[in-house]
Amino acid sequence: MIRTDGSAVFYRFLDLPYPSIESGDGVWLTTVDGRQILDACSGGAMVACLGHGVRELAAAASEQAEKISYFYNHHFTSEPQERLADRLLGKTPEMARVRFVSGGSEANETALQLARLYHVERGDTDRWRVISPAQAYHGASMGTLALNGRPAVQEPYTPYLASHLHLPPSTWRFDPTGEAALAELDRLLERHGGEVAAFFCEPVSAAALPAYSPPERFWLGLAERRRTFAIAHALGGSKPTS
Ligand SMILES: Cc1ncc(COP(=O)(O)O)c(C=O)c1O
Repeated sequence: MIRTDGSAVFYRFLDLPYPSIESGDGVWLTTVDGRQILDACSGGAMVACLGHGVRELAAAASEQAEKISYFYNHHFTSEPQERLADRLLGKTPEMARVRFVSGGSEANETALQLARLYHVERGDTDRWRVISPAQAYHGASMGTLALNGRPAVQEPYTPYLASHLHLPPSTWRFDPTGEAALAELDRLLERHGGEVAAFFCEPVSAAALPAYSPPERFWLGLAERRRTFAIAHALGGSKPTS
């Protein structure tokens, strides 16, 4: 165990002793003093879901790092990057291109910036707000924190956070059909439609609402509203018709 008061590391929880992990294998972690711990959270928020100690992954990373450990991707590319992007597009034909970043928060920040830039480039500079279901997690950066719809988590940082718009999550308990969330979506679009830049959500939630996914009716209703917006844009209006 590492005690936080005897450590140079600034730990997240200052009053906890931390087991010191030496290695991992599958779902098991091994401490420096030989104890085995079941990693039942898969690395925290299900981020080590391929398991620990996967030899092929370590070998591929090592082989690549020996060839080139870093290059600046504003100016260079590489054959493995191109190959991985092609492979991902093969799995998700809806995507046009892939941008590689270092983690989830940065990916979501990038998505936010892209959505905003898209509207700015079209001359529709009023559009900046995001609609997203509440009780989510999109990352630890200020941009992504503003999207989670969880006042208790946001509270100390509210002066830094943009005021986005939130739907109630349509859980089995509170809104099993998704109709309440769709009604709120319509209300928000009615009131703020001309300011909305994007809809943001976890298709399947992770730590904030584990394994939650909205019901089919919600996704269909979302797609209907997206089509209405697309038609309004195609007709040259910057505001939605509804
Ligand atoms: C749904 C979701 N979005 C974003 C993130 C943030 O990713 P990262 O911790 O890599 O910045 C997480 C992390 O758990 C996540 O579960």
